[in-house]
This record gives sequence, C-alpha cells and structure tokens, in this order.
Amino acid sequence: MQLRVVTDQPWDVKADVLVVPIAGTPAFEGPLDELDRRAGGELRALAAFREISGKRFSTSLASAGELPAGRLLTVGIGDPATLDREAVVRVAASAERRLGGRTVRTLAVWLTPLAGADGLDGDAELAGELVARGVVEGSYDPKSIYRHEGGAAAGDDAAATRGDWADIASPPTLDELIIVVPGGDAAAVLAAAERGVIMGEGANTARSLANRAANDVSPEVLAEESRVIAERNGLSIDVIGPERATELGMGMFMAVGRGSDNPPQMIVLRSGGEGELDAKGRHLALIGKGVCFDSGGISIKPSDRMEEMKLDKTGACTVIAAIETVARLAPGTPLLVVAAAVENMPGPHSTRPGDVVTALNGKTVDITNTDAEGRLILGDAMTWAERQGATHLVDVATLTGAVSRALGHLVTGAFGTPQPWYDEVAAAGVRAGERYWQLPLVDEYVADMDSWYADFQNSSSAEGSLVKSGLFLREFATVPWVHLDIAGTAYYRKATSFAPRGATGVSHATLVELALAGATGSR
Ligand code: BES
Ligand code: MN
Ligand code: ZN
Repeated sequence: MQLRVVTDQPWDVKADVLVVPIAGTPAFEGPLDELDRRAGGELRALAAFREISGKRFSTSLASAGELPAGRLLTVGIGDPATLDREAVVRVAASAERRLGGRTVRTLAVWLTPLAGADGLDGDAELAGELVARGVVEGSYDPKSIYRHEGGAAAGDDAAATRGDWADIASPPTLDELIIVVPGGDAAAVLAAAERGVIMGEGANTARSLANRAANDVSPEVLAEESRVIAERNGLSIDVIGPERATELGMGMFMAVGRGSDNPPQMIVLRSGGEGELDAKGRHLALIGKGVCFDSGGISIKPSDRMEEMKLDKTGACTVIAAIETVARLAPGTPLLVVAAAVENMPGPHSTRPGDVVTALNGKTVDITNTDAEGRLILGDAMTWAERQGATHLVDVATLTGAVSRALGHLVTGAFGTPQPWYDEVAAAGVRAGERYWQLPLVDEYVADMDSWYADFQNSSSAEGSLVKSGLFLREFATVPWVHLDIAGTAYYRKATSFAPRGATGVSHATLVELALAGATGSR
C-alpha cells in the first residue's frame, strides 16, 4: 500500500472513497458545509433522514455528487471531547472494515475533524499516525489464513449484506491510502503515517500468528517463524529446546511442556548487543506466554470453548511481533524478547497435580493445578531474561479467566513493582492508545499460596485468584517488573465495527512505545 499526504481541501481530492469523519450532532458549517454543498447536499439530506449519525463508529456511504472522489463514507466520531488515541485508531479501522467486499483501490481520509478533536492530545501528525495504523489494523482479515482459493471469498454477497459485523466480507486491499490534511505539513504527516503503518502491520503480524490453529503452530513452528523474523530484521536468536532447558534447570517450563509430543521451545530474540543498555539506561526484556494449546493438562478444562485455547500463545506472538516492529522503526535499539512456547497437554508424561518441581531460580513449586501453567513457564522465562542481562521486565500473557470477568474485553489488567516502573509502562500504554487498569499486589495473600511440601503452590482458592496470579509471578522478578494480563483483551469472541472475531493485537503498540523510549534519537 502506497501512502500519500495531500494538503488540498477534501473536495479537491480524487480517490475511490473519501472518508468524512462526523462529530456528535453534525453542524454543517465551515469545510463540512462546503464539502456537502459540492456533494450536492447529499450529506445534509442523509443526516436529516437519520441515515448519517455522528455516533462513534457508525458509518454511512453517500454519493459524492460532483466531487472528484467516487463516494463519501461518513464515520461517526462521537463527542470530540472524548475522542482519544484509541478511538481515532478504531474510527479509521471501522471505516476500512465498512468497505468489506467493496471495490476500493484508493482510500482518502479527511484528517481535520480528527486532528482537531479536543479529546486528542496531539496534532495532525499524531492523527495521521493513528489513522494509518487504524486503516492497516482494519484491513486485517483472519479468514485469509486458511481460506482456500475460490472458497467463501471476499465479496461474498450474502455475507456483505448481513446486518451485523459477524461475517462481513474481507476489507479491501488498498493500493493507496491518502491522508488529506489541508494546509498541513505534508512531510511531517507522511513520516508519522509511515510509522503508523508499521505499527499496524506489527499488530497484524501478532494477530496472524495468534489466530493460527494448534495443529499448525506448535512451539517448534513458532520458533521457526521467529527465525524468519530474526533473519529479515537482523536480530539474534537462540532457541532453547527440551534437553537444554532441562540441563539449565528450567523445571517449571519443562513441567508444562513435557506432556506433549511437541517439544517446548524457549525462544530468545535480541536486538542490539548482549546486555547493552538503551538510551534510558535499561536493558528491557519483553516476555510472552506462548501456550500453543492449553487443554489444562491433567487438570483438564471443560470442553466448552476449549478451542479458544489455541490463542493462549498470544502473549508470545505479541512480543515476537513487537521486536520486529522496534527493529523496523529504530534498528539496533537494545531489546530482549523471551517467548516461552509449550503445549499444555494430558498424557503419560504429563505433570500430575501434586508434583513438585524446582524453578530456574531455585524455588520449589507444588503444582496443585496443571491448568495454572502460564505462571510456571513465565517464571522461568523471567529468570532467563535476567540472566541475559535484563534490568527491566514486562510480561504479556493470557493468564487468567478472572481478569476478563473483572475488566471485560476492552481493558487489560496490569500489575507491577516498583510503582515508577509501572508508571512508565502505563505511560507507554497512553502513548499507544491502549487501556490498562492497575491491580494490587496484596502482600497478605502470599500466605494463601503456602504449600506443605514446597516453597509455594501454583494455585489455591478462587478468592483473590487474580491478585495471586500476580503475586506468583513476582516471586521470579528481582528487577523492576510489570505483568499485563491480556486474557480478556487478546481476542474477541464476536466482531465489532473495528475488528473481526479473533486476535486483536492488544499490547503490541504499548510494548513498542516502551522500547522506543530507549531508542537513541526517538521522540
Ligand atoms: N489460559 C488460561 C486463562 C484463560 C482463560 C485465557 C480464558 C483466556 C480465556 C490459563 O492458563 C488458566 O487456565 N487459568 C486458570 C487459572 C486457575 C487454574 C488458577 C483460570 O483462569 O481458570
Ligand atoms: Mn491453563
Ligand atoms: Zn493458559
């Protein structure tokens, strides 16, 4: 997709479709009035008819009258005072998705109503970046992964006319995205939009990996994909297989991986030099939970929705994609990624409830529930990251069902200590336009994890279990650490206007922003 920034007025822009962002109750004045007059009054008429509304993410296709644009697509932005970064990305994604199944090669987006919104703490550059990212994220189509030639394809008429977002036809593949910013600084907006495209592509990489089935993406395949990513971005890679993991003493990691015929793989990616500090004096490590399938193991899960557990590798896919994005945006930025890839399966070699194992850091764990496996593999991955020189840790994991019960699918739960490090990660989340809610590490609950036989157990009563998942992980950090529990936000069970069912790419942008803060010469 080509990117172009034009400083012309929207009524002078030639494109297949021109996206017109519409605020709350559209007042047809200024440039919107001008645009509408040149479109033959179509927008006003449709607004009076209540076909066009400014409700956030609502969309409407209108004829363009005498304009050089082929058609107009209005997209509601809601109250401009609450239009934050996340909302701008989603407005753009909704526009792109609304065009599913349609023939669109060139899409123009009129930036002014977005860039000028009170809720956005930035300028046209920021808006341009977020719009480009949103269009790229909106073009993501999970069906592209496995659909065979000539199968239920893009442009499927029955799907395209459905009233909901459940099964819309594939969003169009654009030849050109044109950002329309009258009187703007074209070069600056273009540079920002290019960054947005790369951010969006990285999120889509994470989604494509995460959405793939467990019979397709085993830990070894995830390691293979990581090698491809390492090669094309000049990253170093080390994959620790079962023999070496056992030798090293990764007892928790092996306890989860041993039940499957598909061997566990600890995937370690690095950009920059070994142990090299970034511009902020940190050696940042991103750690991802890569459970390629979580059956629960011997503590087997109920069959209802078990198929979703192919997505239990999303944290790993996210950190793998994030290091690629960082390498594309600021090559050489010091960054470590440790993706712990396993399959959690029942079988004759599986860990049994009550088995006691020794973690890489020497602590002993009584595995009372083999379905609390994420914390086991993450603990050893965190220790390994520190051994590789990490001074700051962030882990990303679909760790608990409890977090989605608490916060739903729009807000990621987060833990961290010490507070200034948490605050830095949270600030990266704000820059990325992603929502987090900090959960407390309640010291008194540590005693609930006491074991008769070992230093602690991996699961206990349901009361406060979300907090205890964080407390367990804290046992494996000796440097500043933040944990992001994306179990609620990593994938959608049903489509929205801005995203299809399946992996969302959540947290990718946050991790990239965090790492880029340590890039020399970054903004
Ligand atoms: N992978 C699951 C968490 C999960 C649940 C992710 C639903 C996405 C959707 C995790 O390994 C798990 O099984 N957690 C248990 C922990 C419990 C046994 C302490 C849970 O949440 O029930
Ligand atoms: Mn589990
Ligand atoms: Zn799991």
